[in-house]
Amino acid sequence: MAVDDATRTEVSLGGRRGGPDVATLRTDKWWKLPAVTVAGLSAFVVYATWAAFFGDQNFFLVEHNLISPFYSPCLGHVCKAAGNTGSPLFDWWRISPALIILVFPLGFRMTCYYYRKAYYRSFWRSPVACAVQDAHSSYSGETKAPLILQNIHRYFFYAGLVFNVLLTIDAVEAFMWPVGGVHMSIGTLVLCANASLLWLYSLSCHACRHLCGGQVRSFSKHPIRHKLWKFVTPLNARHMQFAWASLIVVALSDVYVRLAASGAITDIKIF
Ligand code: FES
Repeated sequence: MAVDDATRTEVSLGGRRGGPDVATLRTDKWWKLPAVTVAGLSAFVVYATWAAFFGDQNFFLVEHNLISPFYSPCLGHVCKAAGNTGSPLFDWWRISPALIILVFPLGFRMTCYYYRKAYYRSFWRSPVACAVQDAHSSYSGETKAPLILQNIHRYFFYAGLVFNVLLTIDAVEAFMWPVGGVHMSIGTLVLCANASLLWLYSLSCHACRHLCGGQVRSFSKHPIRHKLWKFVTPLNARHMQFAWASLIVVALSDVYVRLAASGAITDIKIF
């Protein structure tokens, strides 16, 4: 293909960190994805911060047994004040229990391989995109402080599993009337969708895939691990989608329970 000399850009590689020596070689809208990532993650962080620090009311709808995922397990002084029998654990805790609870799911997401890629590229802009100049001239990797702490991801994965179990119990309990009997409402479906997506997010985690099939020399000698690995591998390929879907739905679940508990909306009963 003939190259038009008038439109040719002379470039030599060897700019910052081996990238181009001009701002970008790209003519497409490459900045869209980092911009959407910044907007999405920033919106979640702002909302979660508000919910954790200032939202310790209306997180529980007593009549329908619905609890916000940000405030589960129900802990601390506000738990009983909201009408939940709650756990005696942390009864002395007088400020928002979300400040204890959210450490684990947020740690899990902050150290997630997908989110690391997303925020290194979009916030830190290193590397921001293929054929775009890096915003930083050096790279020390994740072998030194503070980024070496990213290696604790597998432990947050275990903690995440505990929370998935707790949120699944919440979703099942939401089918029970506090006075006895069974019902279904939009709220129960919201909590079921939330728990399901969190399981998909955890089961598609790279640490989970490694746990199932990592460091195995021969799958024929480990048939159960092979089956588990084959189950999680297709999920792993969709980890990014599960990361976003579960992030959005967990925030929307909190919003839904708050609106229902405050009386702003009615949790519509299906049966
Ligand atoms: S890699 Fe994303 S949760 Fe583990």
